[in-house]
Amino acid sequence: MILFRDQFVEREEIRISPDDRGYYFGDGLYEVFRVYGGALFEKEAHFARLARTANALRIRLPEPIDELERKLEQLVAREQIGEGTVYMQITRGEAPRAHSFPAKAEPVLMAYAQEVKRPLGAMESGISAVTVADVRWLRCDLKTLNLLGNVMAKQEALDRGAQESILHRDGVVTECSASNVMIVKDGALFTHPANHLILHGVTRAVVLRLALAEGIAVREEPFDLQALAAADEAFITGTTVEVTPIVRIDGLPVGTGKPGPITRQLQQAFNRLIGEE
Ligand code: PDD
Repeated sequence: MILFRDQFVEREEIRISPDDRGYYFGDGLYEVFRVYGGALFEKEAHFARLARTANALRIRLPEPIDELERKLEQLVAREQIGEGTVYMQITRGEAPRAHSFPAKAEPVLMAYAQEVKRPLGAMESGISAVTVADVRWLRCDLKTLNLLGNVMAKQEALDRGAQESILHRDGVVTECSASNVMIVKDGALFTHPANHLILHGVTRAVVLRLALAEGIAVREEPFDLQALAAADEAFITGTTVEVTPIVRIDGLPVGTGKPGPITRQLQQAFNRLIGEE
C-alpha cells in the first residue's frame, strides 16, 4: 500500500508523470521516519524539519502537517508495521521542463511504510568508514531529493570496502553520506555544529540530549581529519543506523579498534529511550 497524493493505493496503480519535477530536477524533499512499537519516533522533529525544508525550497505542502501525520500513522497501522521505517517525499509538481517554478503545479506526495529491523550486528561490532571530499552544495541542512553527492560518496565507501563515507570540506569533517558523525576525545563528544553544512539529524539531536543527561561533555564544534584520526571513539547517528560505532577509518583502527565505552553508554541510553532494554 502506498500513499500517493491523498489516496492509499496499491503500488501497481500508481502512475507517475514524466513531467514530475522530481525526475527532471530532483525538485522535492523527503523524510525518513523510524517506527518503534508501531509508533513514529520523534515525529515532531521530523515534521518540523520537513516544514522547514519545504519553506526554504518554497514547495507548498499538499496538506497541513497534522493531516500528513494522521495519514502516515494510518499507513503504519494499515501495514501493521511494528519495527520499520516510513519514507515520504513531496515534489514540486508536474510541469513541462523549465528551470523556473511552474505557475501552477500541485505538489505530489508519495509515502510508504516498511518493516525494517534494527541493525543489531553493525551496532554491536561497528563499521568501517573512509574519508571522502564533501562536494555537495551549501544547503546540506535541507533534506532535498537531490542526493547525487551522497549517492556517489556512499558508493565510494562500498567500492573501498567500507560501509560509510565520512565527508570533509577542506579537511573539516561535516557528516556522512547518510548519517551524522561524532567523535569522542578525552571523554568529550564532538560533532559539527548544526549549520548549512550538515543535515540537522533527528538522531543527532536525540543523542546530544542523551549525552548531556549522561553527564558527557558535548562540543558542537568543527573538527578536522587529524582530530578524526586521533579520536578515542567515533560513531554515526541516523534514523536507521541509530548509534553505530566506527571501528576503522581509511583502514586504520579507531582508538582500540573496538567500540568504545562512551559509544556503548549512548547506545544503552538510546535503547532505554526507545523502550527496548
Ligand atoms: N538519512 N545526514 C545525512 C546526509 C542523512 O541523509 C541522514 C539521514 C542523516 C541523519 O539524520 P536523521 O538522524 O534525521 O535520520 C544525516 C536518511 C535516513 C536517508 O536518507 O535515508
